[in-house]
Amino acid sequence: MSGDNRDVRRLARQIASSRPSPDPTLEQFHMTHESMANQVPDLANFMGDRTVVFIGDDDHLSVLLSATQPATHSTVLEYDDRIIESILSWKDQLGLDNLTVAKYDVRNPLPADFTRCGAFCINPPYSSKTEAFGIKLWLSRALDATEEECIGVMFLPTEQWGLAWVAKNHLIVQDYLGDNGLIVVRVEPERQAYVHTHDEGLASSTLYLMRVDPTRRVHVPTPEIPDAIYR
Ligand SMILES: C[S@@+](CC[C@H](N)C(=O)[O-])C[C@H]1O[C@@H](n2cnc3c(N)ncnc32)[C@H](O)[C@@H]1O
Repeated sequence: MSGDNRDVRRLARQIASSRPSPDPTLEQFHMTHESMANQVPDLANFMGDRTVVFIGDDDHLSVLLSATQPATHSTVLEYDDRIIESILSWKDQLGLDNLTVAKYDVRNPLPADFTRCGAFCINPPYSSKTEAFGIKLWLSRALDATEEECIGVMFLPTEQWGLAWVAKNHLIVQDYLGDNGLIVVRVEPERQAYVHTHDEGLASSTLYLMRVDPTRRVHVPTPEIPDAIYR
């Protein structure tokens, strides 16, 4: 398809309306199709020709990226079978040879034969009640899934300081980024809107990350309580 903005928006709307209904127990809240269409060209610019791993993609950003940017290659690691099937169905419908999908539970180590990518894209559980635990686990797995000098994109609320957990989590995440040699090279504030969120009007910002010191690494252990990764 052409990269024309109207085409991208039209496809984003079609993809968004086909997504399986969000499962709140898996912390799924859908990005609006407008946010997807705005986000994907920026993602493509930042990622360049790097391969991209998504850890979870209920939003289906990988589908829009693969369809509009044929030079990219994305791998989606996802836990929810409905999302895997839905993304595979779009891959089939649009003939997306540049999109791979596999079942994966972030609570487990990555398969030993996983081919590391050059970049990651994550929309982690915002971990409002767990002191950023889910965010750190997602980041840790993203680093396992990427090359040492990777770049990455993470969606996170950063601006809504009225919510006490946003500021608290942000401080914890900043520390964890530093512990792993990651710096924030750009922030696009409040770039994504959602439907079906716990917090009405909650938006997320895009954090563009770069790993400048791969010698720094703090792994997050497998959680003892499986559901501790959510909320
Ligand atoms: C955790 S949700 C978070 C969404 C985002 N915070 C929001 O509010 O829209 C992002 C993706 O992770 C997936 N996911 C949830 N639990 C997972 C798990 N244990 N392993 C891998 N992916 C998981 C979800 O299915 C979804 O596609």
